[in-house]
Amino acid sequence: MSAITVENVWVEYGDQIVLENLNLEVASGAFLAIVGPSGCGKSTFLRMVLGQERPTRGRMLIDGEPLPDEPGPDRGVVFQRYSVFPHLTVLGNVLLAYELGRSRVFGRLFGAARREARDKAEALIARVGLSAHRDKHPSALSGGMQQRLAIAQALAKNPKVLLLDEPFGALDPGTRAQMHALIKPLWAKLGMTVVMVTHDLKEAFSLGTRVIAFDKVRHDPQAPGRYGARVTYDLDLTREGPVPVLGAVKPDIGAPWSVRVVAAG
Ligand SMILES: Nc1ncnc2c1ncn2[C@@H]1O[C@H](COP(=O)(O)OP(=O)(O)OP(=O)(O)O)[C@@H](O)[C@H]1O
Ligand SMILES: [Mg+2]
Repeated sequence: MSAITVENVWVEYGDQIVLENLNLEVASGAFLAIVGPSGCGKSTFLRMVLGQERPTRGRMLIDGEPLPDEPGPDRGVVFQRYSVFPHLTVLGNVLLAYELGRSRVFGRLFGAARREARDKAEALIARVGLSAHRDKHPSALSGGMQQRLAIAQALAKNPKVLLLDEPFGALDPGTRAQMHALIKPLWAKLGMTVVMVTHDLKEAFSLGTRVIAFDKVRHDPQAPGRYGARVTYDLDLTREGPVPVLGAVKPDIGAPWSVRVVAAG
């Protein structure tokens, strides 16, 4: 578990402002769901937490410390379509992730350490329900199974923060529901901080303990890159009673979940 602090963060690419002045405090152990229209900077934000991207201005902290310059084993990531290694079996993929997380110099473990890694990898494969498919290659797995494998790979590094970028976006509704039933207990059991981007509001509200929306509050039709997205809604779902709208800065758009956000996918 880790707390994430975002202080006055701006992201700019050339003269395009993507995120402007983000300030967020994500509690350790939270399940933060991020929604927002396409292109508003959700994946950019995840890449910053992962350490693949630096803010142009401002700073990001994990447990009060500045983010290391490179992605580390403390942060795992699952994308919508994950590039699991096609030439490795399910077990091989998880084992490799496990080894890379433990032995950063050689990328391989030997002897007792390798046997232990294998036991742990098999336990993880069982946890995501892939034991019967342990020796298959990814091409022989369904989309849902491949995402289970991707989750097992991300978890093999025992991350404190799990980043999910539309991890279930390519799955059919039934498989998606199965993935929800998988991820929520995993999150509760493993005690990770999860940051998940999704276009599915139902998913955001059923999985998240907090839902935030990114959106632009100002537009310049002559210069689309002039303004970036901000946090326009910030909903704490752990509170009792009606869900409060904490960070609303767009009173003019009516209901918190405008059609524009819903239709973004
Ligand atoms: N490396 C980059 N160089 C230049 N522009 C970039 C780079 N990465 C992202 N952008 C731009 O930043 C904006 C935000 O992109 P991002 O991928 O974060 O959006 P998103 O909210 O994840 O969208 P989607 O919902 O479609 O996945 C886009 O306009 C994109 O073109
Ligand atoms: Mg994205």
